[in-house]
Amino acid sequence: MDRLVVRGGRPLSGTVEISGAKNAVLPLMTAALMVDGETTLKRVPNLKDTRTMIRLLDIVGAGVSFDAGEMSIDGSTVNNLEAPYDLVKTMRASFYVLGPLLARFGKVRVSLPGGCAWGPRPVDFHLKGLEKLGAKITLEGGYILAEADRLKGNKICFDFPSVGATGNIVMAGVLAKGETVIENAAREPEIVQLCEALNTMGAKIDGIRTDKIIIEGVDQLHSADLDVIPDRIEAGTYLIAGAAMGDITLNYCNPKHLEVLIEKLIQAGAKIDTSENSISIKKANSINPTDVTTEVYPGFPTDLQAQWIVLMAIATGSSVVTDTVYHDRFTHIPELNRLGANIKLRDNIAIINGVDHLIGAPVMSTDIRASASLILGAIMAKGQTDISRVYHIDRGYESIEKKFQALGVDIVRKND
Ligand code: EPZ
Repeated sequence: MDRLVVRGGRPLSGTVEISGAKNAVLPLMTAALMVDGETTLKRVPNLKDTRTMIRLLDIVGAGVSFDAGEMSIDGSTVNNLEAPYDLVKTMRASFYVLGPLLARFGKVRVSLPGGCAWGPRPVDFHLKGLEKLGAKITLEGGYILAEADRLKGNKICFDFPSVGATGNIVMAGVLAKGETVIENAAREPEIVQLCEALNTMGAKIDGIRTDKIIIEGVDQLHSADLDVIPDRIEAGTYLIAGAAMGDITLNYCNPKHLEVLIEKLIQAGAKIDTSENSISIKKANSINPTDVTTEVYPGFPTDLQAQWIVLMAIATGSSVVTDTVYHDRFTHIPELNRLGANIKLRDNIAIINGVDHLIGAPVMSTDIRASASLILGAIMAKGQTDISRVYHIDRGYESIEKKFQALGVDIVRKND
């Protein structure tokens, strides 16, 4: 099993190219299942999760080729309408096949995704939304069976602006008969790209970028060539590293997707310059304690909560980080305290008392973004840190040790 070995305390300098967004490419891949033809995607990141989604598309019969960031998906050969448990349990985003396959074929069987490292991840909004569109949903042996001769447009209002449920219902709605209105829809850039991509494929979606999405169903979609947007969470991770240790520039990123993080980094003392698709950051002489509360987009992303906590671990005072999206996403805290951080947790609120510096130690990854926070901690710490279970990080960060090596970090991957 791979581990990363980091000798910390060195300054960062140089440039890093941000990859295509994991959370944009996964629904775009399943949207291609709705096309009786070929869809091509550019700037696809080579991640464990994209490889898992390729395996899933292979299982349902779509032809997939992927080389040097370019992917083509042929939806004309889809012949198996089932997403198996042993694959769905490794990646919740597999659930994104539900809407597309149901909308195009009228039947689909998908394993329930189960929980994840930090707790239950229900899918009730997805299922209630599909039932509103006329689907018959039954649960058998841990699998969801969804059937509908033809989905019919309807009005759906989410209790919470769920990213995944918005994606699934939008994809189902584009081939439903009549109009679908989604109230309290997610507005994340990845959902915006999905809607814009579907319109390029012949869908009729209005209200994109708003919390009220209006869809006029069509009979079929057609092929398209799509460019995946930059990964704002990968970019935010490198920006936080720069705020702690360096003077770095990020290329191929979109500062507009990171406005709240940039504001918080400036409050914490970093110097930031932006252009249309790059961001430069210079570390602060000392880091101001800066409270954060995560919110749905355009608020501070929950996917950067762990990384922000690490930065606050060496601030010149105490700060508070509250996660309102996932109340139990804090498995990284005991590991960060092993690096000498002084963090206490009360429900979904972390209280971080800044220390002068972190000290290297063996630590264990628990999920994608927790692993990223451990790498940031290791880079900031004096001494050596061994990070185990690195498969978590490989799910969501392309070539992370190579990108950090190019920024001057002493980091190597070891395979024990
Ligand atoms: C997406 O997950 C992202 N994953 C997550 O990123 C991200 O943390 C999350 O959105 C929030 O921004 C992908 O896009 C592949 P949600 P998703 O549905 O769609 C509750 C990463 O690190 N909920 O917006 O699963 C849910 O429990 C990953 O890249 C229900 O109660 O998130 C949570 O509290 C981790 N019922 C809240 O809504 C439902 O049916 C937000 O979840 C669905 C969600």
